[in-house]
Amino acid sequence: MRYLAGIVFDAYGTLLDVASVADACEARWPGYGGALTQLWRARQLEYSWLRSLMGRHADFWQVTGDALDVACATLDLDPSPADRSALLDGYLRLAPFPEVATALGRLAGVRKLVLSNGAPVMLQTGLAHAEIADFVESILSVESVRIFKPAPQVYALATTFLGCAPADVLFVSANGWDIAGASSFGLRTAWINRADAPVERLGFMPEIVVPDLVTLADVIEANRHDRTA
Ligand code: LAC
Repeated sequence: MRYLAGIVFDAYGTLLDVASVADACEARWPGYGGALTQLWRARQLEYSWLRSLMGRHADFWQVTGDALDVACATLDLDPSPADRSALLDGYLRLAPFPEVATALGRLAGVRKLVLSNGAPVMLQTGLAHAEIADFVESILSVESVRIFKPAPQVYALATTFLGCAPADVLFVSANGWDIAGASSFGLRTAWINRADAPVERLGFMPEIVVPDLVTLADVIEANRHDRTA
């Protein structure tokens, strides 16, 4: 792999496991944990895209709360204010994927950032709780441009921070649509395809496809001799 100015990681779904709220959902509504978790995440992303198209930005904390409300309503679940607040707070304590610390530790010689839709407080709290924050130089939030991924100005936050060309950045995400957005902006991409999902048909292919972050560290290390080329 040729010279990399930095590696930029997506947060939700890539470093933090959004499915880790399922136990809390299941404990509150037995039999609905999986369905509520999936619908909550799907509506969260849809609302981020819809608000961006509408030009009506709200931060990811509000979007996440709105998505929880509509997901509950869709499934005929009626959370009390205390339930709602407890479930939403679960988003501040998501579990990291099990290989995250090992993989980030192995990439010690490279500048590393997080670039996420998350609001700054959500990201700082969530990444500190998951013991990821210390591995990265900075946590960049879309809040500074007030539009969500995959808007190009979001990916530009990373190149501006690193002071480099898009082609010198490796963007890492488990979200295939996020990979397409980053690639459309000009970043190099590594798709963490944990679920063996089909590639998104959005006009761009990921440069690297691996099943987890440790395998990505293997690929980067194996090519490390080329890093100054
Ligand atoms: C993020 C979304 C993609 O962290 O989950 O930006």
